[in-house]
Amino acid sequence: MHRVSCKPSILLAIVASAGARDIFVAPSGSGSGSIDAPFGFIQDAVDEAVAGDVIYLRQGTFAPSANIQIGKSGSRTSPISIRPYGSEKVIVNGENMPGLINGPYGIYARDASHNYYEGLSTHDNYETGFQLEGASSNNTVINLDSYMNRDPRKNGESADGFACKSGQGEGNVLRNARLWNNVDDGLDLYMFASPVTLEEVYAWGNGYNRWGFSPFEGDGNGFKLGISGNPPTDHVVRNSIAYKNYKKGFIDNGNPGSITFERNTAWKNGDTGFVMRSSSSDMRKNLAVNNSNGQAQLIGAVDSSGNSWDSNDNWSDSDFHQRRRAIASLWKQNHL
Ligand SMILES: *[C@@H]1O[C@H](CO)[C@@H](O)[C@H](O)[C@H]1NC(C)=O
Ligand SMILES: *[C@@H]1O[C@H](CO)[C@@H](O)[C@H](O)[C@H]1NC(C)=O
Ligand SMILES: *[C@@H]1O[C@H](CO)[C@@H](O)[C@H](O)[C@H]1NC(C)=O
Repeated sequence: MHRVSCKPSILLAIVASAGARDIFVAPSGSGSGSIDAPFGFIQDAVDEAVAGDVIYLRQGTFAPSANIQIGKSGSRTSPISIRPYGSEKVIVNGENMPGLINGPYGIYARDASHNYYEGLSTHDNYETGFQLEGASSNNTVINLDSYMNRDPRKNGESADGFACKSGQGEGNVLRNARLWNNVDDGLDLYMFASPVTLEEVYAWGNGYNRWGFSPFEGDGNGFKLGISGNPPTDHVVRNSIAYKNYKKGFIDNGNPGSITFERNTAWKNGDTGFVMRSSSSDMRKNLAVNNSNGQAQLIGAVDSSGNSWDSNDNWSDSDFHQRRRAIASLWKQNHL
């Protein structure tokens, strides 16, 4: 599960040409947002940002005592961006945020559109690490690490790694994220009524009771992709992995829509790899191996072909090793 570095995006290029303000924040800052005198709190930068601005986070751990609330939008050509400065490593640690009524989430964006979040790490928050909610569209979250988030006040019922919940809005994308050891699910799209695109998202180890909650309410799915009672929501999930989650790898969870699944892997989850009970999902080239309660449970109008379970449903761990060796030898032959 190595970290894939990201190329600077087109969005950022547009931002740069718009001559927008660069706002700096550093864990030890106490200034007013310049590179030499950065803010000390991410929220201060968010409060000042307008469309086109880039909030640069300097290296280190931010440990806010209240969650970071984002309730403003960029525009299509001038997003508000939040990203580390250069290749610096930035962590948002929620350990200073003991359970309050409304969270606290690590990053909580509500009714916020056209924003761009890159290279953040949100862990040990007392709710979901990164949550997008409400009327929110055209947001890109890229290269996110979110782990060990938990919610003692709900005994693990709702703290996920990433959530896009209770709202609607087109064009939201989560790409290249690692979501692990969260108390509830790796990722949850509960009650979000528009398609979300997920690419290269890796969810593992979610849903274990690492905090001794009693009773324990964590769900433990890698990817929870909807809810019954919602309009059909045609999410897209590509090149993603659910590994060793407490329960299911990928579940439509009552979503009556058609989810597109391409080239995803469910491996060693504690229940079934892929569970589609309500959707008419489209499944191609997915792999389900060594999940404890079967590889795929597909009920209803699912269109499934070319997946591991469609032909020979007895893949084993050793197939991965063989495949890896085959790929390594191919690379060697081609001098890659
Ligand atoms: C989202 O972006 C698309 C493509 O740029 C644009 O057509 C659409 O109007 C945007 N949606 C909203 C709600 O701003
Ligand atoms: C795998 O299972 C299929 C039936 O699903 C069987 O035909 C095939 O021989 C098995 N292959 C191995 C390697 O066990
Ligand atoms: C499944 O995983 C278990 C635990 O790691 C391992 O012992 C077992 O050999 C695996 N089974 C297959 C079929 O790969």
